Order: sequence, then C-alpha cells, then structure tokens
Amino acid sequence: MTHLSVNLNKIGLLRNSRGRDYPNLIHMAERTLGLGAFGITIHPRPDQRHATYQDAHDLKALLKRFPGAELNIEGFPDAQFLEVVLEVEPDQCTLVPDDPNQLTSDHGWNLARDQDALRPVIAQLKAKGIRVVLFMDPDADSMAMAKEVGADRVELYTEGYANAFGQENFNDTLRQYQHAAQAALDAGLTVNAGHDLDLNNVQALCEQGRIAEVSIGHALTTEALDMGWDNVVKAYLERLN
Ligand code: PXP
Repeated sequence: MTHLSVNLNKIGLLRNSRGRDYPNLIHMAERTLGLGAFGITIHPRPDQRHATYQDAHDLKALLKRFPGAELNIEGFPDAQFLEVVLEVEPDQCTLVPDDPNQLTSDHGWNLARDQDALRPVIAQLKAKGIRVVLFMDPDADSMAMAKEVGADRVELYTEGYANAFGQENFNDTLRQYQHAAQAALDAGLTVNAGHDLDLNNVQALCEQGRIAEVSIGHALTTEALDMGWDNVVKAYLERLN
C-alpha cells in the first residue's frame, strides 16, 4: 500500500485569487483527512501565491485532531522557509531545489554540487525530529549520496514518468523509476514520489510496492472539478429553472 498525501496548493491558489478565505484550505484538509488520506502536503513558495506560511501553522493545529496523519511541508530551504518549518515542526519536510519564481518544481537536487549546503539544513531539521526528504530525479546513482548527506527519504520527481505514460517509451521509463527506487531502498532510504501523478498513471508506478508515499495536488484538484462539475451545474440549473 502507498500512502496518499494530498497537496493543497491549488486550493490555496484558488482562495488567494479572490482575497477571501474561500475555499477554506483548512476545511478542505479536514475533509481530506476525514476521508482517510494519510496526509496533507503544502509547498509554500516565497511569494506565498499558493499555500502560505500561515497555512503551515493552521494545518499543524488541525493535524493534532487526526492522530497518525502527517503534515509534509515542501520547499526550497531559504531562511524564511526554514524558520517556519522549524517552528511548525511538520512530520516531514521535503527539500526542493526551486528558484523563488519557478512556476513549479522541475528538477531534483544535484547532490555533488549542493551537498555542503544541504548537510547542515538536514541536520537542523532532523534535530527537531522532522523527517527529511530530498526531491530527486530518477537517477539510481545519486541515491547512495542522498543517504550519505543525511536524508531519510527521497521523493522521485515523476513528471518524466507521467509524460511517458501511454507512450512508446513507457516501459523503459517505468523501469528507470523502479531502478532508482530500488537503489534508494538498497541505500537504506524510503521512497516517496510526486509531480503530475493522476488517477490514470499512479497505480503502475506504485504497484511493485517500492513507493511508500505519493503527494498529488494539481491532477487531484482538476479531477475533483471534472468528477464534480456536472452535479454542480445541474444543481444551479435546478435552482434557476
Ligand atoms: N512534489 C513536489 C516537490 C512539488 O513541488 C509538487 C507540486 O507542488 C508535487 C510533488 C505535486 O505535484 P502535482 O501538483 O503535479 O501533483
């Protein structure tokens, strides 16, 4: 079984677009956990255009009512991000090598280059009892180093996997991801995965049992619109006719 951590950034984006607290991110988190999801993920970026740092605090308070459920905070470890994470003490922190203005995460860490910057950050987070995950490209050769710099887990960046789904190169791509996941397991790491996973492609990635947790946001939100849209349009038509 693979745990589902629902990424609520898109709920934050929708909320922020109107300057009102609607949809309410904490309410959506509560519903999500009430349905049995294992956890909630947010990725507060420096401009807080999706989830905000305040959301991190509010989610931490909510999670106290859901024993066993986990809060995962993702992001680039700049000073402000680290201050919030160390204060909130989420169960898990996924470190991502994002530029401040990046549209979305689009690559994993280059550990040969970034290891010296990461080591003290990882040590600081772990000293607070926070599980540390490094966002990584599906490169089997990098996994031992992820362990060596102190990570507990890696999160495989799955955009390449999602793009290959249904294409000719799918089996090769899936093999590459499974190989990277196995290398991480062999190095003593646990394996998460995320980015562009959806209802169609998630099972093939997880069915071999190597992926402990997936975090899914964009597609899950879009699928919720798709699967709920007709009912809502019908409900409006009923009221107006
Ligand atoms: N993992 C990381 C590091 C991310 O930045 C994101 C997007 O915020 C995700 C997973 C989830 O990706 P998606 O929104 O495509 O499900």
